[in-house]
Amino acid sequence: MSKANLLSLLEEREGQYVSGEEISRALNVSRTAVWKQVRKLEADGYRIEAVPRLGYRLTAKPSRLTLQELLPKLQTTSFGRRLTLLDVTDSTQNELRKLAEQGVAEGTLVIAEQQTSGRGRMGRSWVSPFGKGIWMSLLLRPPVSLPLTPQLTLLAAVALSRAISQQLPELDIGIKWPNDLLVGGKKISGILLESAAEDERLNYVVVGLGISANLEAGDYPEELLDKAISLKMASGESVDRSALIASVLEQFEQLYKLYLEQGFAPIRTLWEARSVTLGKRTELYTPQGKVVGVPLGLDEMGGLRVELEDGSLRTVYSAEVGASG
Ligand code: BTN
Repeated sequence: MSKANLLSLLEEREGQYVSGEEISRALNVSRTAVWKQVRKLEADGYRIEAVPRLGYRLTAKPSRLTLQELLPKLQTTSFGRRLTLLDVTDSTQNELRKLAEQGVAEGTLVIAEQQTSGRGRMGRSWVSPFGKGIWMSLLLRPPVSLPLTPQLTLLAAVALSRAISQQLPELDIGIKWPNDLLVGGKKISGILLESAAEDERLNYVVVGLGISANLEAGDYPEELLDKAISLKMASGESVDRSALIASVLEQFEQLYKLYLEQGFAPIRTLWEARSVTLGKRTELYTPQGKVVGVPLGLDEMGGLRVELEDGSLRTVYSAEVGASG
């Protein structure tokens, strides 16, 4: 018997007592062996109440991610099937890049409980405190050319928003172009794509996913509080991180398969349906300067088609979306 067998049995009957006798019968081991595994689960941070004549009852789970809890929830074929779970790292992007250079397969995932130098887009840092969020990087080796990688950014945003909606249906999640997920105008997650290519041939893409799951207001620097929010702060309930990770990987893998089979068109439609950027006057800060207009939709590459104030059309491929109004 492993800890995992015992845990699934206690989880199936969460909140209820399961007698030592029943456990030893179900798992075909002695009562002493059951007791030893209970102690091991407790050492992993589970709280298990043991009451004479009633048996064992699972009363609390660790706030730390464990493979025991995560792996049984995974429904994917390749995404997350090779998985590294770290306590602390500088950035999961760096960890996964090292593995990618060693040739690991598509779908390889690195998750960390904490990042000391988590990074965001545009050279910003990413707040990644211990045990409170989902900080992870996923490896893709897509058979597409470098200029098409922005499509994967948009795909990742759709996958994340679908997964979060599945776990927390009461939250109204919108995508701000290209890939910020917002609840009530505040950012709850971010996506960072880093590619390695030779000429235009893409070698691999490291997709960094940051979801501010269970952060409290005190976890954010003061200046971010009017721009960022966690799922817990927005919904009032703690998020089951391993269920959300499994759901993100499942949605991501499904959409990625769809993308490889049918191209960007279906992803584009899904993205547009969830966007909060379209149809509103928007300021876009591009590397070539500020563009003001009304975004109408995506083009076939993943760029944002914007109607300018003089009625002309322009497509923007890289920009920071600023204030609208
Ligand atoms: C953004 O600026 O919105 C992108 C944020 C991306 C954060 C994630 S957390 C996991 C991965 N590791 C990092 O250092 N960054 C990404």
